Amino acid sequence: MTSLVDIADVSLSYGGADGTLAVRGLNLQVNQGEMVAVVGPSGCGKSSLMKLVTGLLRPTAGSVSVAGKAVDGPLKIVGMAFQNASLLPWRTTMGNLMLPLEIVEPYRSRFSRDKAEFEAEARKLLTTVGLGEFERRFPWQLSGGMQQRASLCRALIHKPSLLMLDEPFAALDAFTREELWDVLQAIWMERSFTTILVTHDLREAVYLADTVHVMSARPGRVIASHKVNLPRPRTLETSFLPEFGALVQELRELIRIQRGGPAEMEHAA
Ligand SMILES: Nc1ncnc2c1ncn2[C@@H]1O[C@H](COP(=O)(O)OP(=O)(O)OP(=O)(O)O)[C@@H](O)[C@H]1O
Ligand SMILES: [Mg+2]
Repeated sequence: MTSLVDIADVSLSYGGADGTLAVRGLNLQVNQGEMVAVVGPSGCGKSSLMKLVTGLLRPTAGSVSVAGKAVDGPLKIVGMAFQNASLLPWRTTMGNLMLPLEIVEPYRSRFSRDKAEFEAEARKLLTTVGLGEFERRFPWQLSGGMQQRASLCRALIHKPSLLMLDEPFAALDAFTREELWDVLQAIWMERSFTTILVTHDLREAVYLADTVHVMSARPGRVIASHKVNLPRPRTLETSFLPEFGALVQELRELIRIQRGGPAEMEHAA
């Protein structure tokens, strides 16, 4: 399998050579079509990793390449979604979905001509995530979970080959979060884009990922990578399997050691 993302021996320091070293000796490969999860203690450099891959930041040392090309600026083939859905409040759901197409080429120059076609595509996506009836609503008329569904659609509207998700479901209640795991898994299985998912939720990581990468405390690097060999589509039943629980437990223990915390304080999910 060819890797789409290749992070080789990367260091990143904020504020120059004497500044905060966020990651050091970071190595990570993500295969074409793979869904990986990145977990690690707070402040270990996960969001920094995302910014390095999308070209928002340049490494202080080492190299980052995507699709065989060194990343030297913001990438167009990427879709992104974050913890906060960050929809524009003055635009409807449909208006928000159109935004990337108004900005990113080759869509931008065709936008006014092909708007109807783009809207049809957006409608299809919205239906897939259960928002078919809500294209004319404004973000403030949607629940948090619905906003996050719309944000996922916006990240996918320009058919990116790489989807970057930085704790996209963290602000949601447990039930909505689990619903959105299935929504994401279904779209990913249908469209087979490569995905990097940063999460603090270890069940989420195991539920969704082909491989879970664990980062050390800052300066972050990948200290363990676990393949998740559970069949797809994974369901809530999958999450009750002993091997699911065992992997979650193993990841929790790795992160506990990185945080330097006592074992008895780590029972919370
Ligand atoms: N713009 C910045 N300027 C200076 N330091 C920064 C900046 N962004 C992040 N850092 C520092 O770099 C380190 C890594 O930050 P990063 O946001 O990548 O961590 P994270 O793993 O995403 O954390 P969390 O799990 O809390 O989201 C932290 O110590 C943070 O304080
Ligand atoms: Mg972060």
